[in-house]
Amino acid sequence: MRILGTGSTAAKKIVTNDDLAKTMETSDEWIRERTGIAQRHVAEADESPATLGAEASRRAIEMAKLSAEDIDLILVATASSMQRVPSISCQIQAIIGAANAACIDVNAACAGFMTALTMADAYLKAGAFNKVLVIGTETLSDMVDWTDRTSCILFGDGAGAVVVTAGGNDLIYSLGADGTKGDALSCQIGAGVVMDGKEVYRFATRTVPICMKDAMDKAGITPADIDVFLLHQANIRIIEAIAKSMKEPMEKFPVNIANYGNMSSASIPVLLDEQVRAGKINAGDRIIMSGFGAGLTYGACILVWS
Ligand code: COA
Repeated sequence: MRILGTGSTAAKKIVTNDDLAKTMETSDEWIRERTGIAQRHVAEADESPATLGAEASRRAIEMAKLSAEDIDLILVATASSMQRVPSISCQIQAIIGAANAACIDVNAACAGFMTALTMADAYLKAGAFNKVLVIGTETLSDMVDWTDRTSCILFGDGAGAVVVTAGGNDLIYSLGADGTKGDALSCQIGAGVVMDGKEVYRFATRTVPICMKDAMDKAGITPADIDVFLLHQANIRIIEAIAKSMKEPMEKFPVNIANYGNMSSASIPVLLDEQVRAGKINAGDRIIMSGFGAGLTYGACILVWS
């Protein structure tokens, strides 16, 4: 798989920790200390998973030096659809004018981008499609209970996208889920997110290293061979704990959680786009991306940048 272009965006309105402290019993200090989050972006009435996903896609297609008509498959990872049909991928297809693209939505929550990327890989290997747009897009602000200080402080709205094609280096991955732990993080339609924060924390710090190790074993490498670890931006303490268990320095783990909070399936492609545009990921770099979340789901993908 070769990534031809990356793009990202976040909802326009910024809500700081101090803003939240005006409406609930919390503080900037508590949120920063426990999560690493300083602010999050929150969608307004004119923004949706489709509009944010479309903007990220435009930027990825532009970097790939393609036009929307060149895309033949759109894979959207999202848990934020507020309507059953049409899918978010069909809505994005219409907005960007990707008239030649088939459209599929995938819901694997915060492991969604990993899941969609592996699907793109399988379709490319099968020769079924040629230029695939893979998007992670979320408006989690629609799903949280804004009176629940234990969860609403964590989430934010944004989208990231990549255009991929066949060629380059093999995508090597590990995916999994534990449906028996579904209650640890759930959201009924019309109700807010319900989360057992401690259980999710334990799951992430235990399962992500195992999942990444599985992908590394398949690739025949060790953590020292990875140049950049792009982890789901859920909590800085989770990222630090995973870095420690990998015995790798935090310098290899770029973070942007302070600016966005947890954007679920959008977190990793937004971070990837920022790193690429900052010139921090270059040809030959071996990257690993790893996400985890509601389901409970998890996944890790290794790719040598080409
Ligand atoms: N502001 C101030 N105090 C808060 C608070 C907030 N926003 N949220 C909770 N508290 C309080 C609690 O009520 C509790 O008070 P008590 O001791 O009087 O009962 C205290 O702070 C400690 O709460 P606790 O839940 O033990 O904190 P924690 O260290 O486990 O951190 C999370 C809570 C949610 C930050 C942490 O568990 C976490 O990040 N879990 C993973 C969640 C996640 O990543 N979910 C998405 C996965 S994709």
